[in-house]
Amino acid sequence: MSKRILTGIQSSGIPHLGNILGAIEPAIEMSERATEKSFFFIADMHSLTSIKEAQTRIDNTHSVAATWLALGLNVEKHLLYRQSKVPQVTELSWYLGCFMPFSRLSLAHSFKDKADNLEDVNAGLFTYPVLMCADILLYDAAYVPVGKDQLQHVEFARDVARRINSHYGKDIFVVPESRTSEEVMIVPGIDGRKMSKSYNNFIDIFLPEKKLKKKINSIVTSSTPVEEPKDPDTCNVFNIYKLMAAPEQTSALRANYLAGGFGYGAAKKELFELIMSRYGETRSEYNRYLNDPAELEKVLQHSERQASQLANQKLLEVREVFGFK
Ligand code: ADP
Ligand code: TRP
Repeated sequence: MSKRILTGIQSSGIPHLGNILGAIEPAIEMSERATEKSFFFIADMHSLTSIKEAQTRIDNTHSVAATWLALGLNVEKHLLYRQSKVPQVTELSWYLGCFMPFSRLSLAHSFKDKADNLEDVNAGLFTYPVLMCADILLYDAAYVPVGKDQLQHVEFARDVARRINSHYGKDIFVVPESRTSEEVMIVPGIDGRKMSKSYNNFIDIFLPEKKLKKKINSIVTSSTPVEEPKDPDTCNVFNIYKLMAAPEQTSALRANYLAGGFGYGAAKKELFELIMSRYGETRSEYNRYLNDPAELEKVLQHSERQASQLANQKLLEVREVFGFK
């Protein structure tokens, strides 16, 4: 029985602190506990539904890959690959599409949201979930860690896998399960709303020191004067700090807030220092990878060769069953 973990990562920019704490670090931890090889890939073909500029996509893909590597994903054991470098997935996507009821696909929430809000409503946007099903089923993934917005897509993958298995009376595909973390960590942005690229309220931990400091200084705080006691629980600086700090650091900062005589400037300085100590090495590794595209390429290609081999094996099996041998 497969216990493989697989997830796709959008390549829509430089991952921010919310992405890192809410998705990337938990996924890397999950892979460290996994007994089998885990599959992490950059969904660059999916990004063509919105990003048409080639260089933007390449840059985003490099940033995302460098982030995962800098945060310590073990690529000796697990895979980190570009979806586009294993294009076999598009063949499977076609097969799956022919088993996916149009009526079911047209119920996809994510498509409806996008169709209401975007100017470029292309067919790729509509068939996006089919390619995602192929991403999952091609590698016999058992567990798919995703955010809530992607749960329906994993349901589609379960549905189409069952349909095909039952049609041919054979367990061709593993029926995958989604995994969403129980205590979903929501990282607040500099304005207190959920940190997100779409709100432009994010902290990019890879900024040069001065700019990072400036960003942290722009976190919105109340106008309580320095000398007065402050409520840590309603403060954006404190709420970001506590997600990364050790319990004793959090208690110490809380005590400072409550005692008075401690200003937001000082709290922001603490947060900056915490980010620098927690991510100092990550920052230099990230820059090392981005400044050495050949090394980055080498690491990705190592995974891509393995993924490609597995994809070929699976497709042989699938083609045989469908009569395309
Ligand atoms: P964005 O909102 O910036 O566009 P994405 O939707 O691309 O981010 O999210 C990528 C991953 O990061 C998802 O798994 C999502 O759940 C996680 N994530 C994004 N923002 C946050 C946040 N503020 N707190 C926790 N997790 C987040
Ligand atoms: N659609 C996912 C997202 O927007 C990314 C993704 C593509 C994915 N293929 C996948 C996630 C397969 C999990 C499994 O975040």
